[in-house]
Amino acid sequence: MITPLSLHTGAEVRGVDLTQPVDTALRERLNRAFVEHPVLVFRDQHLSPAQLFDAVQLFGEVFPQHNTRFALPECPQIHYISNQDFYPDGKRYIPGEGYHTDHSNAAEPPKATVLHAVRLPDRGGDTQFVNMQLAYQALPAAMRQRIDGMRAMHVYQSRHSERKLMALSETARQNVPDAVLHPLVRTHPESGRRSIYLNPIRIEGIVGMEEEAALALLDELLAHATQPQYEYRHQWRTGDMVMWDNRCLLHKANGDYDMGQVRYLYRIMLKGDVPV
Ligand code: SIN
Repeated sequence: MITPLSLHTGAEVRGVDLTQPVDTALRERLNRAFVEHPVLVFRDQHLSPAQLFDAVQLFGEVFPQHNTRFALPECPQIHYISNQDFYPDGKRYIPGEGYHTDHSNAAEPPKATVLHAVRLPDRGGDTQFVNMQLAYQALPAAMRQRIDGMRAMHVYQSRHSERKLMALSETARQNVPDAVLHPLVRTHPESGRRSIYLNPIRIEGIVGMEEEAALALLDELLAHATQPQYEYRHQWRTGDMVMWDNRCLLHKANGDYDMGQVRYLYRIMLKGDVPV
C-alpha cells in the first residue's frame, strides 16, 4: 500500500479513496507511514474543498493560515495556490518560491501542509523537498555540536529574505506573533530524530550571534541541506494530494513553466507542537 517514490522522503499511498470513510486501523497505518515518509502522495483524489477539509483531519487538526487573502469563500479553511496573482507593483506572485518551512513564525508551527492539484501546466511546476534529518545526520560532528542549543528568531517576513510575501491584512496581523524563538536543531516529536530547522524567509537572526556571523552560518547550513542527495522532487499529476512534514523538511515551488497556463492547487495545514 505504501510505495517509496525515491530512496528517502517521498512515498505513494495506493488503494485509498479519501472520499470514503477510513477505519481506525487504516488511519493509524497512514499516520505511522507519515512518520517514516515525510512526503505522502495520494494519487487521483479529485476532492472538493469540503472533502479535502474532511480528509486531512485523518492526520490532525486544521491550522488557521495567517494570510486570509487566499482563503476560498466557500470553505475558508482551504486556501489556494495560484500563478494568477500579482504583487501591487504588477509583478507575478509565485507562492512558495525559495526553500522554506511553513509558518515557522508561529509559536506552534504547523506540523504538515497539504496541497491538492486542481489544474497544472503541461510541464514544470514541480515542488522540491529536502530532508533536514538526513542533512543534520550528515553534518560534521563539530558543526552538530556548534548548532545544538542555538535558537533562531522567526518573524512573518525576514528583512534578509530574497522572497517578499504578500502583506497581511490588519486583522490577520493581530493574530500573528511579532517574533518567536525556535531551536536551530529540533527533535521530531514522533520519531525522535533530529533535524536542522531553518527558514530563510522568516529567520531574522540567531540569539547571541552577530548578524554577519549568523547569516553566514545560516547560508552554510542551507547550502549543505539543499544538496541533491537530500532532495525528493515531486512531479505533480492532477488529482494528487500531497502532504508533507514541515518539522523535518524544507520545500520550494518552481515558477519554471509557461505562465500562460494555470497552476492551481488547494492548500491546508495541520496544527503542530512547540519545536524542541
Ligand atoms: C508552498 O510553498 O506551499 C507551495 C509549493 C508549491 O506550490 O509547489
